[in-house]
Amino acid sequence: MNPLPVILDVDTGIDDAFALMLAVRDPRLELRAVTCVSGNVNVDQVVTNTEYVLETAGAAHVPVARGATRPLLAEPHHATHVHGADGLGGFARPSDRRTEHLHAVELLRRELMAAIGNGETITLIPMAPQTNIAMLLRTYPEVAPGIERIVFMGGSASVGNATATAEFNVFADPEAAAIAIAAAGQLDIPMTMYGLDVFNEVLITREQAVSLRRSGDPAAQLAGALLEHQLGVFGREATTIGDAGAVCAVIEPEGLRTQKYGVRVETGGSYSRGQTIVDRRDWAGDLDDDPQGANLTTMVDIGLEVDAAGYAKLWLAALGQTP
Ligand code: BDR
Ligand code: CA
Repeated sequence: MNPLPVILDVDTGIDDAFALMLAVRDPRLELRAVTCVSGNVNVDQVVTNTEYVLETAGAAHVPVARGATRPLLAEPHHATHVHGADGLGGFARPSDRRTEHLHAVELLRRELMAAIGNGETITLIPMAPQTNIAMLLRTYPEVAPGIERIVFMGGSASVGNATATAEFNVFADPEAAAIAIAAAGQLDIPMTMYGLDVFNEVLITREQAVSLRRSGDPAAQLAGALLEHQLGVFGREATTIGDAGAVCAVIEPEGLRTQKYGVRVETGGSYSRGQTIVDRRDWAGDLDDDPQGANLTTMVDIGLEVDAAGYAKLWLAALGQTP
């Protein structure tokens, strides 16, 4: 089987680093490009971190582009309390790589139009605020036939993390998430939400983190150090691979149980701004009669349960760790 072409949109970020490593190392994927956006840290730091991680994983050839420097409307909101001031828990290093001169949106357009020209499609995996994705789909809707589907990390059908109700990636740019989800519906692009309901389930133990750090592979060593840092931040004995789970869901979709629901993003609200409102009602009578037009929402495959042990094993195997 030919590897599946993917593009990651990232705000690297500790768990974005885990996702990049998996996308580079798993032979079932072909990483065509990586686009960067302001999120966990400012976009220049995101670019530096992304290039460093790709270089460490042996993928210095993959094109990387700098994208949105801030959210569409919201004030920038970073997550340095989780990822550290440099976004990589103090492990960030400069890289010799040269970034693409193209803006992220232009690189996405180039790759997707080339895919259309070759009769291919590419799976997009956004794992950051969806500023680049919203701009892409509104500026160049003609790329839609080149997108196999969008599997994004973001949102939640239950609890939040940035706030009581909102997940970080959506909270950081709610207008962008609302636009990306609406545009996907309008352009018939299938969308899967890998949200907080499953994000926190795929765990690596301290013992496994130590074993990664002690391995001979520079990417595994970095992953181990980042995991140990994260264990310290959360004060736990096991910690999530986070965004990397969304990549697992592309490699082994059967490990994610999903259900199709209408989704909207709260862009107003006081304490609910950035919440993904997942409409789990199932009676057509109420849905049809909804004064807010429930039937006009985008239907999204919502990840509700995950094969956590299977995905942890998949990720560890990509970094050379077998039980
Ligand atoms: C998401 O927010 C970021 O901090 C992580 O990288 C992940 O994409 C989790 O809410
Ligand atoms: Ca991220």
